[in-house]
Formats: sequence, C-alpha cells, structure tokens
Amino acid sequence: MADIQKLNNDHFNKTAQDYDSIPQLFEMTERSTKIVVEEFTASTSEEHVNNSTVLEFGCGTGLCAFRIAPKVARVLGVDASEGMLKHLNHKLATNVENAPFRDKISTVLHLVTDTQPLPAKESAKYLAGANGGFDMVYSNFVMHHIEDVQGIVNTLAAKLLKKDGWLIVMDFVSEDHHHHQHHHHGHDNAQGGTKAESSLHDHFVDAQGNPLDFVAHKGGFTPEIFAGIFKKAGLVDVEAKQSYGLDRELNGKMFYTEAFVVKGRRA
Ligand SMILES: C[S@@+](CC[C@H](N)C(=O)[O-])C[C@H]1O[C@@H](n2cnc3c(N)ncnc32)[C@H](O)[C@@H]1O
Repeated sequence: MADIQKLNNDHFNKTAQDYDSIPQLFEMTERSTKIVVEEFTASTSEEHVNNSTVLEFGCGTGLCAFRIAPKVARVLGVDASEGMLKHLNHKLATNVENAPFRDKISTVLHLVTDTQPLPAKESAKYLAGANGGFDMVYSNFVMHHIEDVQGIVNTLAAKLLKKDGWLIVMDFVSEDHHHHQHHHHGHDNAQGGTKAESSLHDHFVDAQGNPLDFVAHKGGFTPEIFAGIFKKAGLVDVEAKQSYGLDRELNGKMFYTEAFVVKGRRA
C-alpha cells in the first residue's frame, strides 16, 4: 500500500466515529447525491436509472449510498477503511429509514487498485460475462485523497464500467478556480455581511494549521483538469462543471467550498 493510502486508511479508521458530524457534510452529501442522480438521468433515462446497478467508489459511512439506493436497482459500496464501513453497515442494519433499501445495498472492504479493482467474489458477481460491469460508477469527495488520480480513473473507466456505462465524479474545486468564481456568487455568510474566507489550502489543515497528510491534492481540482483526466481514460461525452457551493465552518473559521461534477461514458 502506498504511503498516502496507508495514512488515508489510518485517518479514516480513526475518525470514522466522527465523520458524519463534520460540519455541513450531511447537506453536502445530500446535494452531491442529488446531482449524481440528475446527471445520470439526464445522460440516460429515468427508467434506465431505476434499473441500474451502480458502484460507489469510496462509500465511507454511506451518506451518499443510502440516498442513491432508492433511485436505483442496486448499489455496491466499496471502501478501503474498515472503520468507515463498520459505520455504514451499522446504520444500514439499525436505521429504520434504511430498512426499505437494505437488500439493495451491499458493501465490500477493499482497496481499489488497477490490478485488483474488486475482490474475486464481487468481480464474479458484477463484472463477469459479456454484459458485466456497472451501469454507473460514482465517487464523492474521494479523489482528493488519491495520489494517482489518472490511474484510478483509468481503472474505474476500463475495468468497472460496462459499455455505455457512466462515470460520475464529484470533488472540491481548486482554490484558484473558485477565487475566480467567488464573486459571481456574491453570497454572505450566516453571521451577516462578511464574506467567508475562501482557501482550500486552509481547508486541509488541522486545528494548529498544519497540513493534513492524508490529503493528496490539497489544492483540489478544476473541472477542466478533471475533464482532461476523463478523456485521457478513454471516456467520451465528457462534461465537467462547477456545481454547488456553500460556507463551512472548520476549526472556527469560515470557508467557502465549491464542488464540481464531471461525467463521461465508456464507449
Ligand atoms: C472523504 S471520504 C468520502 C466518503 C463518502 N463518499 C462521502 O461522500 O461521505 C473518502 C473515502 O474514500 C475511501 N478511499 C480512498 N481511497 C480508496 C481506494 N483506493 N479504494 C477504496 N476506498 C478508498 C476512504 O477509505 C474514505 O472512506
């Protein structure tokens, strides 16, 4: 396991308990999931979405998976962190609101790599045969933790999607890009009047201001850069754009955070 992946794993195992109480994360994952479903539907059809088998890469505690389950036929959530998945599985088993979707969601503890995109059992179940592969693969807030983003996008595109399947990725827009866009929003923060500080670099520091060592891409991405990564992975009909933005409070400071969405189809 590469260094950053090990640090990642240690971090998520250690903080899984508190993950769901990260400020605004509930709202952000709700908005992300809505956008993933909207984009998938716009590129296919509602009927196709309802009948689809989808994979969430880096499902964590299930904040997105639980929300996407009602919209699709079946969700497989893959995650490398035992702590995060334990949380997901606990919520799946105990939350009454998840009860109707219990049989739609499966999870697997696995570090997705190019040589082993899924474990043997899941490969046999989801990838085998001429029509094997997922109708849609998505990830939310995972890519900034990945060292070799092009490598992982290549793997998701070539080994996990079926033909005509869609890859949909959401993550944070880079500092430069959103500084540039910031003024268009003209938002004020909840305290009234003063603009939230807007630095993704500051976003990825601890309470003492030290950079978090489990984040590989501390500056985030631009939609354009991610579109290039998708095209290089051989995906077609690629579209990338800024998505929602909101103010978040972290370590007592306000940050304006903006998300992007990029999608592409396996030809
Ligand atoms: C910030 S969390 C996001 C969780 C969830 N998608 C959400 O929106 O709340 C990132 C997750 O990605 C997982 N992850 C990172 N790299 C991975 C890999 N190569 N294979 C599987 N999971 C990975 C981590 O274990 C972690 O749970």
